[in-house]
This record gives sequence, structure tokens and C-alpha cells, in this order.
Amino acid sequence: MSEFATVTVTVNGTEHQRLVEARMLLSDFLRHELGLTGTHVGCEHGVCGTCTVLLDGESVRSCLMFAVQADGHQVTTVEGLGTIEEMHPLQQAFQEAHGLQCGYCTPGFLMTLLPFLEQNPDPTEEEIREAISGNLCRCTGYQKIVEAAKLAVDKMAAEG
Ligand code: FES
Ligand code: FES
Repeated sequence: MSEFATVTVTVNGTEHQRLVEARMLLSDFLRHELGLTGTHVGCEHGVCGTCTVLLDGESVRSCLMFAVQADGHQVTTVEGLGTIEEMHPLQQAFQEAHGLQCGYCTPGFLMTLLPFLEQNPDPTEEEIREAISGNLCRCTGYQKIVEAAKLAVDKMAAEG
């Protein structure tokens, strides 16, 4: 028999409350309960990084957490980063530097790089590569992603 639990979580600044199965993954909660399908799911066991979101400002893999573990916390998904009309500088950098091809991995890279670049405003290429070493991309060969991250450094610095 399934066990259910009430989860109250603030996602992208809006509080949501749902009664969910206690075993529901945070990634499934975001996608299926809240309709935030920008958080992608690849491996579902913590390897690919495509499900990365922020939990209280830190990058976490939402496929490795139960939704109930986010109870009372703040979650930020890629939908909270920017919009097509008003992209975050990190998103602008990915667009301008061609940091994506199919785009499936992109939300995970963005949500990994965001706190990293906020905490390391002047990283070396080595540090950028280390920061994204847990995110897999099948298309780009990573070079354009690194270039996008470097461009984002400049754009985020310009924004102050
Ligand atoms: S889907 Fe979460 S790490 Fe791959
Ligand atoms: S752009 Fe296709 S997996 Fe990264």
C-alpha cells in the first residue's frame, strides 16, 4: 500500500502544496505535479545531471531526492531563471555562444553553472570544466558549453 504525504514547497517564488506518494521523486513532482517540464530527466540515478535544480540556492539532482525532502524549502527550476523575452545573462550566453544543440542537457548545465558562477565570478577554464564535470552532453563535445560559460562570466559581471 502506498504512503502519502503533504508537501509544501516554494518553487520559483510560488508556494505549492500537494498530497503525493512519499516515494515520489522531486523531479517527477516538478514535472508531473507542477507541470514544470523544463527540468529534464535522463538517467534517473544521479549520473547525467540533466535534472539539476536549485534547493535553497544550491545545485541538487532532483532525481536523487524525494519530493517530501523538499518540504519547507525553496526550489528554483530553469523556468525561474528567465523567459524567452527576458533571458538571464547565462541563458543569453548559451544562445550567443551556441552552447547547445538538442538542448536536452541545457537546463541541467544552466542550473549547475548559476550558483557556481555566482560564487566564482572569475573562474578559470579548468574550474568551469570541473564545475560541469557531472553534467553529460551527447551533442556538443562540451567546448561550446565552456565558451558559453566564459561569455556568461562577462555578461554577469556587466550586470553587476
Ligand atoms: S536524471 Fe538526474 S542525474 Fe540523470
Ligand atoms: S545539447 Fe544535446 S545533449 Fe547536450
